[in-house]
Amino acid sequence: MLKIDLKGKKAFIAGIGDDQGYGWAIAKALAEAGAEIIIGTWTPIVKIFTTSWAAGKFDESRKLSNGNLMEYAKLYALDASFDKPEDVPNEIKENKRYQDNAGYTVSEVAAAVAKDFGHIDILVHSLANGPEVKKPLLETSRQGYLSAVSSSAYSFVSLLAHFGPFMNQGGSALTLSYLASERAVPGYGGGMSSAKAALESDTRTLAYEAGRKWGIRINTISAGAYRSRAARAIGFIDSMIEYAKVNAPLPKELTGNEVGAPAAFLLSPLASAITGTILYVDNGMHAMGIAIDSPALASPVTD
Ligand SMILES: NC(=O)c1ccc[n+]([C@@H]2O[C@H](COP(=O)([O-])OP(=O)(O)OC[C@H]3O[C@@H](n4cnc5c(N)ncnc54)[C@H](O)[C@@H]3O)[C@@H](O)[C@H]2O)c1
Repeated sequence: MLKIDLKGKKAFIAGIGDDQGYGWAIAKALAEAGAEIIIGTWTPIVKIFTTSWAAGKFDESRKLSNGNLMEYAKLYALDASFDKPEDVPNEIKENKRYQDNAGYTVSEVAAAVAKDFGHIDILVHSLANGPEVKKPLLETSRQGYLSAVSSSAYSFVSLLAHFGPFMNQGGSALTLSYLASERAVPGYGGGMSSAKAALESDTRTLAYEAGRKWGIRINTISAGAYRSRAARAIGFIDSMIEYAKVNAPLPKELTGNEVGAPAAFLLSPLASAITGTILYVDNGMHAMGIAIDSPALASPVTD
């Protein structure tokens, strides 16, 4: 029987803040395949995440198919916008939620993970942030644009640069992108479309560099619309889900599992020859050239 077997593999998943997002779905699929889960959670929400976990709020979502609950070996506070302590501005350093969690820059987290676990096999980047995401690109400030690219794209370059040296040969990294990198999606603004384009381009360049340097693979999943906390904050996620349901080749809502399973495959030895790839996991939405529900279409073209 061909199955995804990640027993004995250690996976660091950056970008889990609750049980609603792709990071969680991927962690669950990796746990189902037997991997040990290590979590990186955005510094200001560490307390709410760990408190909710301890209070049992995620118990239902933690259930694995064998009846056990998903566990994590360790959780690190992480702010992937900063590479080293000197990069952190004073107003953030002094923020109470940051003061409670020392050592959250990428270099510090990588050093701590290397010290605690020795080597890891899997790195997942499931995080993004664009402070001006609701603004059209034409109205986006330079600072907002650079901040989106820094938090959502360079964060992966930095994570890989710091984790790569202690990743096992044959290991693999994965990021999450969105179709707005290559097609205009009004409403996905603030430089977020630019950040996703950078992330996808970097997937190819980093696949070459990390493949040659450490023997590891780098891939991206371009995922469809999903009702995560981040997506809800952008504001029109329900309409995007409905739009995909009506217009995609597979007219159904995308589930976390449907992204978690291909992620686990890409991160497993079964995908040992796949690197530098963007895999669409979106019910086929990317393949469409027209919206079949457009009122401009004179006669139905659905069949
Ligand atoms: N939800 C969708 O419709 C959708 C579609 C395609 C791609 N994606 C991508 O999937 C990935 C995961 O997002 P999601 O939608 O599952 O939402 P999510 O809210 O579950 O995950 C985003 C996480 O990023 C964290 N984060 C933000 N800034 C950070 C920083 N500086 N350092 C560390 N962590 C930080 C947030 O705290 C949050 O936990 C993102 O890259 C997103 O762009 C989402």
